[in-house]
Amino acid sequence: MSVDFDRSRVTLVDHPLVQHKLTIMRDENTGSKQFRELVKELALFEGYEATRDFPLEDAPVTTPICETTGKRIAGRKVAIVPILRAGLGMVDGLLELIPAARVGHVGMYRDEVTHEPHEYYAKLPSDADQRICLVVDPMLATGGSATAAIDYLRAQGVKDIRLLVLVAAPEGIATVLGHDPDVRLYTCSIDEKLNDAAYIVPGLGDAGDRIFGTL
Ligand code: PRP
Ligand code: URA
Repeated sequence: MSVDFDRSRVTLVDHPLVQHKLTIMRDENTGSKQFRELVKELALFEGYEATRDFPLEDAPVTTPICETTGKRIAGRKVAIVPILRAGLGMVDGLLELIPAARVGHVGMYRDEVTHEPHEYYAKLPSDADQRICLVVDPMLATGGSATAAIDYLRAQGVKDIRLLVLVAAPEGIATVLGHDPDVRLYTCSIDEKLNDAAYIVPGLGDAGDRIFGTL
């Protein structure tokens, strides 16, 4: 059964290098060190797309040759908000792109039987409501963890939320977009479906365990 969602709110980051790297990540024989490196690299590619609409302003600059006017990023600041644990793997890649970003954390684990999310920790920058929040988590499965994190951020007054995941199930996309009318989603892949254990198929297994070597 196909799952419907509004594709105009989803950016598929499917550059050939992204697809190549994602295939290595999917391989069950890829070890934690390489997996971690690839999570970071794909986060960088996604960050590039998720910041594409950032406004610019004129910036005078003197080159070794002459004076000219360049551009610099204007406007609101950024918070990177990983959903713990696996989201931590995406933070460094985004910080390389946006070094001045603040990092908030939302701790969420999925009950293995009910698949319901449980929040166990949250800490945001004090001015999070003034920032563009890039919520990061490699996996969007049922969408329970992401919607809980988005609800938390909305309750703190955050207006601009962009969810960056690496692999998404159609069910999770539909849940998140249906739950929050304004969130924008970035993903490197829209996979086929969820299995009976609510794992993404074909997916890449348990991202947190593969990042941290806790398999
Ligand atoms: C994984 C993943 C997401 C969540 C996705 O985390 O990193 O947070 O599951 O599933 P959902 O869309 O059905 O909520 P997990 O709960 O396994 O915790 P971990 O990051 O500590 O491994
Ligand atoms: N969490 C993961 O890490 N992988 C899945 O496939 C689903 C939830």
